[in-house]
Amino acid sequence: MLSKTFVGFSFLFLVLFAEEPQPLSTNDIGIIPKPYLMLKSDGYFTLSEDTGILYDAKFKVAADFLKTYIDFGSNIALKQNNAIVFQLDTTIIQDEAYKLLITPKKITISATHPKGAFYAVQSLRKLLPASFENGSHSNTPVKIKAVSIEDQPQFTYRGMHLDVGRHMYSLDFIKKYIDAMALLKMNTFHWHLTEDQGWRIEIKKYPKLQEIAAYRSETLIGHYSDQPHQFDGKPYGGYYTQEQIKEVVAYAFERYITVIPEIEMPGHSQAAIAAYPELGCSGEAVNVATKWGVFEDIYCTKEQAFNFLEDVLDEVMALFPSKYIHIGGDEAPKTRWKSCTDCQQRIQEQGLKDEHELQTYFITRIENYLNSKGRQIIGWDEILEGGLAPNATVMSWRGTSGAVEAAKLGHNVVMTPTSHCYFDYYQSDNDDEPLAIGGYLPLENVYHFQPIPEELTQEEAQFVLGAQGNIWTEYMPTEDQVEYMAFPRILAMSEVLWTHPKQKDYGDFIGRLENFHSRLDALDINYANHLYEIDGQMNKTNGQLYYQLSTPAKGKVIRYSLDGKEPDETSKLYDSLIPITQSCTIKANVFVENEPLGKTYTQPVKLHKATGKEIVIDKQPHKAYSGSGAEGLVNGISGSDTRYGDKEWLGFWGEDIEITIDLGKTQMITSLQTRFYNGNGQWIYAPKEIAYKLNAEEDYVLQTIPQSNNKLVDITLKINQPSRYVYLKIPNYGIIPKGKQGAGNAAWTFIDEIIIN
Ligand code: ACM
Ligand code: ZN
Repeated sequence: MLSKTFVGFSFLFLVLFAEEPQPLSTNDIGIIPKPYLMLKSDGYFTLSEDTGILYDAKFKVAADFLKTYIDFGSNIALKQNNAIVFQLDTTIIQDEAYKLLITPKKITISATHPKGAFYAVQSLRKLLPASFENGSHSNTPVKIKAVSIEDQPQFTYRGMHLDVGRHMYSLDFIKKYIDAMALLKMNTFHWHLTEDQGWRIEIKKYPKLQEIAAYRSETLIGHYSDQPHQFDGKPYGGYYTQEQIKEVVAYAFERYITVIPEIEMPGHSQAAIAAYPELGCSGEAVNVATKWGVFEDIYCTKEQAFNFLEDVLDEVMALFPSKYIHIGGDEAPKTRWKSCTDCQQRIQEQGLKDEHELQTYFITRIENYLNSKGRQIIGWDEILEGGLAPNATVMSWRGTSGAVEAAKLGHNVVMTPTSHCYFDYYQSDNDDEPLAIGGYLPLENVYHFQPIPEELTQEEAQFVLGAQGNIWTEYMPTEDQVEYMAFPRILAMSEVLWTHPKQKDYGDFIGRLENFHSRLDALDINYANHLYEIDGQMNKTNGQLYYQLSTPAKGKVIRYSLDGKEPDETSKLYDSLIPITQSCTIKANVFVENEPLGKTYTQPVKLHKATGKEIVIDKQPHKAYSGSGAEGLVNGISGSDTRYGDKEWLGFWGEDIEITIDLGKTQMITSLQTRFYNGNGQWIYAPKEIAYKLNAEEDYVLQTIPQSNNKLVDITLKINQPSRYVYLKIPNYGIIPKGKQGAGNAAWTFIDEIIIN
């Protein structure tokens, strides 16, 4: 490989800028994440075995990457013409920014920092045929469209997380994940290394972490909310050796990706306590957890536990050069601390008010230790409770309020709210999706994520470093499943983080994504494809219901039937809203040249006395779970049996709600039916009671709802009275009880269609 500091091409630049550039509109240049500025110009650069690479020594990493990527053999040689030239340009201010200029004669990559040059290469790569991704290209010369790109990211923290505690993956897979991040110009890999169900990082000073904490005796089968719990009876586990970890860190470093290790504390530490029971409050033996959830055995606040953690962190810091060390901090029940003499003594000694302040003491003490070694802590938003450690960065996952609070206090934040960043949630409401933890986070929602919370001023917004997609792996035993959940949502996230909001356009993104599939195929990535799915929506105009069908992919047609027949090339073409005047089953599919592309979309519509009638709820549903609004509760369509985040369920957090339905005229009401979601693992609880009345002046009639472990709780109220109005009162369940996920937080209420007959 030739290396040469570059001089004397300004003449060429004048020539290039004299060309008349055309703005690029659509996906003929399919770069994801979309660059800041792209101008297409005339002609093509021809990449062939005669193409040379010339680079400033500073850009060796990017140049080497490119050389390996385009390798036509070994004929890369220094050329003045037909060369790819990397040059230093100190007028470019941001380290990660770059310019990529492609002309018929030459490709010029300009950057001020090696990172920028690397990202230029990641863009150039996407202008080449997908066959380059796996080296299956022939040695025939390739034409690359002339274009001028100026690019820079929106956010400095562009992350992906991976939990290897619940399930772990091969070293090759970790590298493949890092490669995909680099392809998408992401720069932070948050490696979640310790969990209740397994400790995955070799710590030489504590061999029992390898012998005991790394293995569980068996694993839960099916979903956590399937009762009774069943187990597979098979031991599971393993860990990454320090040598392997060094290999990953170095691999990521070569791709300008920082690896932030997460060592969870004080909670999610049952595996460590299984290995060293003296780290817990009681000193009693526990097992490495075999099911998912939140566990009460957490690190004690006695000196011995801090000594252990400092030793662990010493070895961690020696492996990970990152400025940040993630110390977890989430979901730490205080049960053990409340009955522990050591912990209570600590509270006394330190003059603390309660166990929340004890958590702050814990986190601050760890922060001081890491700060003394020149590192910073990052933690989940629970580290705000009881007071924030002085220099901490907050990772906001329980919505965005933690981020708002922290940013207003002048702390840096990274956004990972469940509503937009939890890629362990379902991405489609198809019933045949692989088992997932719950929730609903379709691609479009990820794409529309705005990392900066509205509540922040421009000044406070500076504290928002960026965001990250989280991959919690309870329900992802295989690498294929991780890919299925990560892709394509990671592509949407890359555009959220890199692309200027003004350049973002979901339709355009979908077009580029469709083209990107061949690249993902070449990379052997098991992405989910929901582009040819139908999306349906009931609308009401002037009291009349209409059904709307759409599909994300462009240039396709939709055909449908209302009689339950499988749609084929002779079925009605969807070209305008479908009036709905009676109960029916809508079936639809996307067609190209008379061939169905996707799976048949099926939506039963059941009209009842309240469909399309006026409905008022005294509270707004939560922003992230606002479904089709109040009207969605009387639109003839029931929500999914498994996805409470769909367009039909409404979610309210911790609020009592009152609903008024106006049937338009007095009529006989025999019954009222509805149902509540009861996914306790996701903090969702059916109410304990529901009340109704038919007249504003009357008292409510109360009906208690029996407690249940079922995910769906159906309610039927027998009424048999004439009325025009129905008033419903639905009190929130209240605070989540001890021992349950999210204990101490307010429960969510999720309600579905209200069917009046
Ligand atoms: C988390 O999802 N427990 C941070
Ligand atoms: Zn204790």
